[in-house]
Amino acid sequence: MRTPLLLSGLGLVAANSIELPKPTRQLEWKDVNFLSTSDTHGWLLGHQHATWPEPNYSGDFGSFASFATHLRSIADSKGLDLLLIDAGDHHDGSGLVSSSPDGPGRTEEIFSQLPYDVMAVGNHELYHYDDALELYEHMHRWNGRYVTSNVNITVKDSAERWKSVPLGKQFLKFKTNQGRSVTAFGIIFNFGAHDKGITIQKSSKLAKEGWFQDAIRDAPDYFVLAGHMPARGETAEWAPIFDAIRKVHPNIPIYVFGGHTHVRDCTQFDTRSIAVVPGRYMETLAFTSSSLPVGEADDKPLDVARRYLDANPTTYKWHTNTTDDSFDLPIGKNITLALTELASSLNVSTNLGIAPHDYFLDRHPYGHPRSVITLFSDKVMPATITDKKRHGDRIIISTGGSLRFDLFAGNFDRNDELTISPFVNKFYYTRLSAGLARNVTDQLNRAGASKLLPTVPSSQAEEEQRVRETYSEWMRSQWEDYVQLQAVEDGVKDGQQTVMSNGNDAKKPSTLGYVTKDACPDKGDDIEHIPVPYSGDQPDFISTPFPKVDDDDMIDVVVMDFAMDDFLVAVNTLDPTLGLKESMMQPYADGLGINVVFGMYAREQWQGK
Ligand SMILES: *[C@@H]1O[C@H](CO)[C@@H](O)[C@H](O)[C@H]1NC(C)=O
Ligand SMILES: *[C@@H]1O[C@H](CO)[C@@H](O)[C@H](O)[C@H]1NC(C)=O
Ligand SMILES: *[C@@H]1O[C@H](CO)[C@@H](O)[C@H](O)[C@H]1NC(C)=O
Ligand SMILES: *[C@@H]1O[C@H](CO)[C@@H](O)[C@H](O)[C@H]1NC(C)=O
Ligand SMILES: *[C@@H]1O[C@H](CO)[C@@H](O)[C@H](O)[C@H]1NC(C)=O
Ligand SMILES: *[C@@H]1O[C@H](CO)[C@@H](O)[C@H](O)[C@H]1NC(C)=O
Ligand SMILES: [Zn+2]
Ligand SMILES: [Zn+2]
Repeated sequence: MRTPLLLSGLGLVAANSIELPKPTRQLEWKDVNFLSTSDTHGWLLGHQHATWPEPNYSGDFGSFASFATHLRSIADSKGLDLLLIDAGDHHDGSGLVSSSPDGPGRTEEIFSQLPYDVMAVGNHELYHYDDALELYEHMHRWNGRYVTSNVNITVKDSAERWKSVPLGKQFLKFKTNQGRSVTAFGIIFNFGAHDKGITIQKSSKLAKEGWFQDAIRDAPDYFVLAGHMPARGETAEWAPIFDAIRKVHPNIPIYVFGGHTHVRDCTQFDTRSIAVVPGRYMETLAFTSSSLPVGEADDKPLDVARRYLDANPTTYKWHTNTTDDSFDLPIGKNITLALTELASSLNVSTNLGIAPHDYFLDRHPYGHPRSVITLFSDKVMPATITDKKRHGDRIIISTGGSLRFDLFAGNFDRNDELTISPFVNKFYYTRLSAGLARNVTDQLNRAGASKLLPTVPSSQAEEEQRVRETYSEWMRSQWEDYVQLQAVEDGVKDGQQTVMSNGNDAKKPSTLGYVTKDACPDKGDDIEHIPVPYSGDQPDFISTPFPKVDDDDMIDVVVMDFAMDDFLVAVNTLDPTLGLKESMMQPYADGLGINVVFGMYAREQWQGK
């Protein structure tokens, strides 16, 4: 069994000294430089498992803070600027933010110890009014650098009247250390599934607001647009803002920092701009740099670069020329300590068992014994989702999309459990003939596969699915390109063996990770990797193994609420005489959510006795 990574006082270290690959190319420092994060989703403890590619993303927020602080000093000593940007989605994800109602606030408190220059809000901060209100009431945390140009919240004013006010700042104007003037906005895509009491304005309307036109009138040295949306694709709604600025200032550089789709990406809207997206879960930091024009008449293309850094201490030390002794700074140690204390007070690091194998979300097809979805449907659900009052035969139907992450060999704790599924679903049952029940999951998947998402998803589940599809598509294309290249290079050979060989070959990448193709010049990835194997699409719906019963027997058919609407349609399609309605479904396994079933299973099966 592999030894898991342990938390030390100074960030994460590999207990068995796994060696991480070192970068080989220096950062391209230019007149202005940016370090951007997005979609951290509470992963401030970094990635703590030993299965590749996890160790590559093993830096916690403390070591990131030390890194950012070192880079700032380097910038100062070179007489250059380094700005720190974040594009939102702090909530929902790891155990720190998903384990308790006050987890998000306490995590934000730690996040805000690192002074960012521009921050934007993500959709995950806006699903629940109370979360948005917490953010609004603690806005002082961010030192006036949290910008929400198209998001308002409705709150009571001092006279107890309800009033719609900007959640954070509407815009920012500030001077950098090197004396450059910056005008910045924070924008989110036209996000439909937000809670009541939140208002989101389309960017096309924002661009026409009087206050916006006033804010862009004076020429800064450059504009910064931070926003929770991708650089390209259907949810990228930068154009109205970008065009409005360009109309007034044809040549002033515009630097765009996005997020939301969880992929690494880059494009240029014109030769005087660059748009960069760093990916997700503290796996990637994006370093973006650019020349500045020499005077107003200079309309030559900017010299720009972007680099996707694997977020780990090896990367950090290499790019700052620091050693184990000189790398950790007080700010970083302090943050790591605060994170460790928070994790312990939330009990998210309490061990629940030792997982005997890795179980992957996308590396194996459903049905494979090392698929986490197979583990869920064949082992975890049957063992944990039970109702004291119901005996007899049953099947349980659930959605594949309710699982969100791999489950790694070794220590399995509450943090891992919530990472796999933070959802608090409910279960319901009805009685159906076994003959019909046998056909329901297939019918669900036939219908599910053809179901098109609306252009503006109106529920959290739909928005989540859309993000997951974009990310999966990215992972698929990386793997398919790699397989094709291998076939061309030396005939088809076993990718698995190549992956496991040691990491010292200077020429060929030998570790798993992201292999990014974006729309910017030159290579973006800081370290060359082999892409993570991708097995293909997972089913939308899954069910527990079918009991050995005759078709005429009546059995309990249990459904997770995520799947309820589709389930009713499927049953009524198979037998229109039933007229099954939601009101005819009874609660099952009262109070059980899938955010606790893996822990229940681990305690029973993985205690290693
Ligand atoms: C937010 O409220 C301000 C006034 O308080 C208003 O000018 C602005 O248009 C509103 N924005 C949104 C997105 O509702
Ligand atoms: C680190 O050291 C290398 C080799 O001496 C040098 O080329 C590089 O510029 C240094 N990097 C920084 C950020 O000082
Ligand atoms: C250390 O952390 C505490 C709270 O966790 C904070 O109040 C304090 O400012 C931090 N000190 C430094 C040097 O970052
Ligand atoms: C953490 O666990 C301890 C001991 O099991 C318990 O007393 C405490 O209430 C738990 N805290 C939380 C936040 O769950
Ligand atoms: C279930 O599917 C099988 C095979 O397609 C079919 O023969 C059978 O009639 C179906 N039963 C019900 C109750 O829909
Ligand atoms: C991840 O770590 C493995 C193990 O050393 C290494 O081979 C691989 O190159 C690393 N990947 C990245 C992106 O750092
Ligand atoms: Zn996100
Ligand atoms: Zn998002």
